[in-house]
Amino acid sequence: MQLERIIHSQGFGSRKECRALIRAGMVSIDDEPVLDPKQDFATESLNFEVDGERWHYREQAHLMMNKPPGYECSRQPQCHPSIYALLPWPVVQRGVQSVGRLDQDSSGLLLFSDDGQFIHRWSSGKKQVPKIYRAWLGEDAGGALADRLLAGVGLNDEPEPIRAVACRLIEPRLLELTVTEGKYHLVKRMVAAAGGHVERLRRIRIGGLALPDDLAEGEWRWLDEAAIAALADG
Ligand code: URA
Repeated sequence: MQLERIIHSQGFGSRKECRALIRAGMVSIDDEPVLDPKQDFATESLNFEVDGERWHYREQAHLMMNKPPGYECSRQPQCHPSIYALLPWPVVQRGVQSVGRLDQDSSGLLLFSDDGQFIHRWSSGKKQVPKIYRAWLGEDAGGALADRLLAGVGLNDEPEPIRAVACRLIEPRLLELTVTEGKYHLVKRMVAAAGGHVERLRRIRIGGLALPDDLAEGEWRWLDEAAIAALADG
């Protein structure tokens, strides 16, 4: 593929901007600037540098973030900074979107992709993907709270009771629950309907993919093949 098209596909601007970057000597392959925008390269396993920063060619971008509280899952945030401000600009420019959303005050595992099928696969309610949350509660709870969530709770706009597929109290004020739907404020509304109150919420797993211990809040990383396979193992 021509270098200009490669750099464009990876989010470094319009074709014209990418051509200008290359002609200005800002794009290197194997540590050598390449000045011809039309020069062809095999994209498989291709590493390149733009303005001294190293990148790996990816046909599609799949990544995970440990979302910090205080960020909105929107490109046009209303009151708080956008989670997209935590990603490098070429990644944002190539059009990644979050796979579903977490509330502004929630934290934890959030996926992004620029592949519509991937986004649909992992965000569609119909696919019943299990998601595990830890909910820190405002008051001590007894086992009855978990039992009510497992039995199913009624929510205003839902015709049928919604139940947690797994739920346990880890501590009197710390609940871990698994849900398979992706509705607005679902966990907070379910816990409220069961008689509790969520003060803090973190998603720790989607399918079989756990939030890595060494991914600090605000950090992100690419999803490799093993991580994508793990997702489907949930
Ligand atoms: N349920 C909620 O209530 N909030 C989230 O951010 C995610 C699930």
